[in-house]
Amino acid sequence: MRRVISLIDMDCFYAQVEQRDQPSLWGKPVIVVQHSRQGVEGGILAVSYEARPFGVKRGMTVSDAKQKCPQITICHVPIGEYADKADIQKYRDASAEVFRVLNNFDSSIIVEKASVDEAFLDLSAYTAQKLDEMRENGTLEEFVETALSQLPSTHLANGQDFAENDHLREQFLSEFIQNSTYSDENLLLLIAACTVETIRKRIRDETQFYCSAGVGNNKMMAKLVCARHKPRQQTLIPWKYVREILRLTPIGDVRGFGGKFGNRVQEMLNISLMGEILEIEWHLLIEAFPDQHEYLRAVAEGLDDEPVRPRRESSSIAVSKNFPGKSAIRTTREMRKWVEGLVKELAKRLVVDQVENKRTAENLVYSLLTEEGKPQKTLKIGSYLPNSLFELIWTAIRGLNRSNLAGNEDSPWTPPVLNISLSASRFQPGVPIQNRVITEWLGEKKRKKEARMNAVYDENDGREDVIIEEPPLPKPAPPPKSTRIVFDGSHECIVLDSESDEDVDPPPPSPPHRNPFFLNRQPEIEYIQVGGERISRQAFRHLPPDVKKQYEHRIALEEARLLKSKAEAKGSIGRKRAGSIKSPAQQPKKLKPLEAFFKKKN
Ligand code: CTP
Ligand code: CA
Ligand code: CA
Repeated sequence: MRRVISLIDMDCFYAQVEQRDQPSLWGKPVIVVQHSRQGVEGGILAVSYEARPFGVKRGMTVSDAKQKCPQITICHVPIGEYADKADIQKYRDASAEVFRVLNNFDSSIIVEKASVDEAFLDLSAYTAQKLDEMRENGTLEEFVETALSQLPSTHLANGQDFAENDHLREQFLSEFIQNSTYSDENLLLLIAACTVETIRKRIRDETQFYCSAGVGNNKMMAKLVCARHKPRQQTLIPWKYVREILRLTPIGDVRGFGGKFGNRVQEMLNISLMGEILEIEWHLLIEAFPDQHEYLRAVAEGLDDEPVRPRRESSSIAVSKNFPGKSAIRTTREMRKWVEGLVKELAKRLVVDQVENKRTAENLVYSLLTEEGKPQKTLKIGSYLPNSLFELIWTAIRGLNRSNLAGNEDSPWTPPVLNISLSASRFQPGVPIQNRVITEWLGEKKRKKEARMNAVYDENDGREDVIIEEPPLPKPAPPPKSTRIVFDGSHECIVLDSESDEDVDPPPPSPPHRNPFFLNRQPEIEYIQVGGERISRQAFRHLPPDVKKQYEHRIALEEARLLKSKAEAKGSIGRKRAGSIKSPAQQPKKLKPLEAFFKKKN
């Protein structure tokens, strides 16, 4: 049985994100443009469909776009917080909203994120189950009879669909629906098309974004026909019409053929349409593409067995910056500045990813493009702290400076660097214990914000209690406004700023000072000190439960010891058992998880 696959692609995605941000821009010509650098206006990244009839295209200069469409609105991609990088987080967040809808639609649909704005869906299991259900409960006939009304934006790719009007669209679909009663394969495609209409409607309802889709028997055909009737439409390609569609499809339009390989196929075989591959004699095809002739024929026949892989997140997170021509980096000082900036940006994105996807990158690949080559190396990430990441990378790359004067900040950097790229990859599921506190805070803060924005969740639905369940504290502590990692000479501490913030509850009242180990009571930060270790009390409250338990145990021991030594001092009886209980200062450091938690990772 053939599979049932769909590709959903958002229409002019970045432009829609801007239109949603400024609703007066809906229905108007809009372009999204990179910020200018060194006086040169950035390129056009996205063009709303309203601007396309004017001939405005991606990659065009802004002045050309303005000339073609004087009333066009220009939206700029925000500049990143660090390293003067474009900040596409806004579009990533919008993408995450769309993927939330896709991932939550039905667990039997496999979702593969293919890019920021598109996803493949494998609907084989889902549609088979629906067909069985309809057969079992006798509703199949009714479904077929009403299917046309469930397909208001669906087109049938039959080769004549480009010239169709709405009457013909319905006629083509009706014929397909009638014939599908004799073919399970077509029934499954029909159920898929109705389902994808529903999914697209849900995306629209929940995010305001419009999208288009293709439905067919494999990824290649779904992707190909998705582009056939854009925007706000979807296209169904039954197996029967695959050959006919490919016969007239430009080679570069097919997935995997848009670049160098597709050009080579066209040049070597002197053809331009996919179907022409099937007209070439076998021995000539083998001669031209000895390793790929079978693959080429399969594609031309519309065959593609690449599975839809359940993939929700990208497999790497990268930051990079170009320094073309005269802007090439030529001094150690400049190099350090840009690496620091890029590291901050990368660290920020890694932490956000850690919160969202509960995973941690193991590898970091740096590469420096110069006129003499592109040295690159894989490093092992020990910590997401920007300082540690910077030290890791700086230690590795400073030796690449071949200047005779290398060594101090003012020395030249040779050869000049044209691009710096840092890419984190090899994500492992989970969050290391030393990061968990931070990610939990951030996650909590994010959830609260979402709850407020969606107004769907009850703010006090108990989530807060997941982290904090401390009896001495009258009320769960709020997530901090910000976290700072400080190094107090011997230990790295996480310090929380607990100023009130619109996102968080007011800070809890201070607990009574019952515990003798609450020392150093400052107006803002209280510390707990045990065995020479000191952490802020706020941080203590947010420790992972297992670490906290050990810490509490330790505090209880010290409390008992203190009481005992007091009693002994009172009675001044010399029942001393030397070495049985050591003073806090003498206590050997045994608190492994706690130390691991605060250990400065490098
Ligand atoms: N994008 C980009 N750089 C590229 C290609 C795409 O920044 N070289 C961004 C675009 O800004 C775009 C989004 O990725 O909005 C999705 O790209 P794509 O699907 O190719 O185009 P859309 O703008 O969504 O337009 P369409 O409706 O044709 O899909
Ligand atoms: Ca798109
Ligand atoms: Ca796309």
